[in-house]
Amino acid sequence: MTGNNPADRLDLIDDHRLRTPVARLAHDRINLYAKLEYSNRSGSTKDRSAYWILRRAVERGELGPHSTVVESSSGNFAISLASYCRALGVPFVPVIDENVNPPTEGFLRRLCAHVEKVGDLDETGGYLATRLARVQHLRAELDDVYWPDQYSNPDAADAHFRFTAEEVRATFGRLDYLFVGVGTGATVAGLSTRLKQVYPHLRVIAVDAEGSAIFGGPPRRRHIPGLGSSLIPPLLTDALIDEVLIVPEVEAVAGCHRLLHRHGLYAGGSTGSVYFAIERYFDDYVGPAPTVLFLCADRGTAYAETVYEPAWIVATFGPDAVPDDSSRPLLRRSA
Ligand SMILES: Cc1ncc(COP(=O)(O)O)c(C=O)c1O
Repeated sequence: MTGNNPADRLDLIDDHRLRTPVARLAHDRINLYAKLEYSNRSGSTKDRSAYWILRRAVERGELGPHSTVVESSSGNFAISLASYCRALGVPFVPVIDENVNPPTEGFLRRLCAHVEKVGDLDETGGYLATRLARVQHLRAELDDVYWPDQYSNPDAADAHFRFTAEEVRATFGRLDYLFVGVGTGATVAGLSTRLKQVYPHLRVIAVDAEGSAIFGGPPRRRHIPGLGSSLIPPLLTDALIDEVLIVPEVEAVAGCHRLLHRHGLYAGGSTGSVYFAIERYFDDYVGPAPTVLFLCADRGTAYAETVYEPAWIVATFGPDAVPDDSSRPLLRRSA
């Protein structure tokens, strides 16, 4: 029996005793592994932070039976919150923007009684400032709002420190490189701080999108949700990063298609950026094969109409951007 108080329902969302799988990928020069974070409960790595943020908020008494959760997210974090809030029995109002993937928006509209969608670009050419302003408006308007504030909530990084990093530690006796995409910085902060304790020689490579302001470039309009931000996220302060690689969005598309055609992994746009960065980084590598790990943050399904759709690629990046997928093995027929 479970009551209606979220505090009595915490066990219902405590599903982090199962590890996400790790896949070994063929490569000539490195030992390459992908941790399939899309195998989490609602399909992305954001389940880690959503679970831990909500759990800690309930335990601290910040989120109670009469609360409404309100959060700004262009995708995966909103999906995770929608799923967990339903299990906890509390309403959730996602604040999304025009860059949201159509399947993600469909899911949120099915599960949440109220969805706020903003359409005005802020002065950086993105939507983050507009979304955050709408969150503040809702906090003033509604009673008993709990705002997870994924950009600066330390529990988001702590989730990766405790859960994701612990799974990596239990899986790998040795790890030389970790490639991590950066949005709010929670994943890279939590993983880098814990895994550098475990593997003192580990090199952490952060991957960001061109047009993001996180590592100092001018913010510009971006089209693929996941990586990047028009603000420098406070959580990044704690991250232990050795190198930063900036990947243009058009190369994220190429990375997604290569990951699919070479390895059969159907992953989202941010994973495509990270995979592209790894391929480039080890292009001319000589020496003993290092062990390299990256995360598949979410699945390609939500990107079927964008990153994987030639018409969208042409409209967004031009005709030369459509990846050549002709490496597909041909069917053999008996003569
Ligand atoms: C698909 C995807 N990849 C990567 C990230 C970046 O993770 P973090 O916010 O922990 O930096 C996000 C964050 O929203 C994401 O949705």
